[in-house]
Amino acid sequence: MNGSRHIIITGFMGSGKTTIASGLARILGCEMLDLDHVIAEREGRTAREIIEQDGEESFRGVETRILHEVLENSPMGVIALGGGAWTLERNRNLINKHGCVTVWLDAPFELCWERIVLSGSSRPLARDEGQARMLYAQRRPQYALAKLPVQLVANKSSDQISAEIAERLRVLDNW
Ligand code: S3P
Repeated sequence: MNGSRHIIITGFMGSGKTTIASGLARILGCEMLDLDHVIAEREGRTAREIIEQDGEESFRGVETRILHEVLENSPMGVIALGGGAWTLERNRNLINKHGCVTVWLDAPFELCWERIVLSGSSRPLARDEGQARMLYAQRRPQYALAKLPVQLVANKSSDQISAEIAERLRVLDNW
């Protein structure tokens, strides 16, 4: 492993960030943090509640502040971001400044949407399929800035994907 540098997992809502980050942390024997869970703990409200009550911009401010704290203060580990965090340049700069490696879970829109619907919890930024599809298309160029893109196909288990990421990180130079 590379010192105290974090592994960041990004990707669209429903791409499986939390599940795959947990599996990866298990394989690597390190901590796993879900940024939205940390936000909910610290703020006493979920990401959804903050967005609904205070607006997206206010949520983004909270998200950047807590991302910064986590990057500074947590022991080396795997960090699952919320789907929008990596799309902001200021957050990418913070992550890169901390020497993290970022993994993009590149899941097809249909798979993400199916999971968003199945999860049953409404996502304020993906209220209907049209809105979600547009956001997905808008964000792809930013996700593609991640160092390690991982294409997700429906017939691979999350454990297989975590193992594949662990192997790719092992042979990755320079992070
Ligand atoms: C968001 C995704 C959510 C959460 C918030 C905003 C986004 O996390 O951070 O609702 O902008 O895509 P998940 O990707 O875990 O759903």
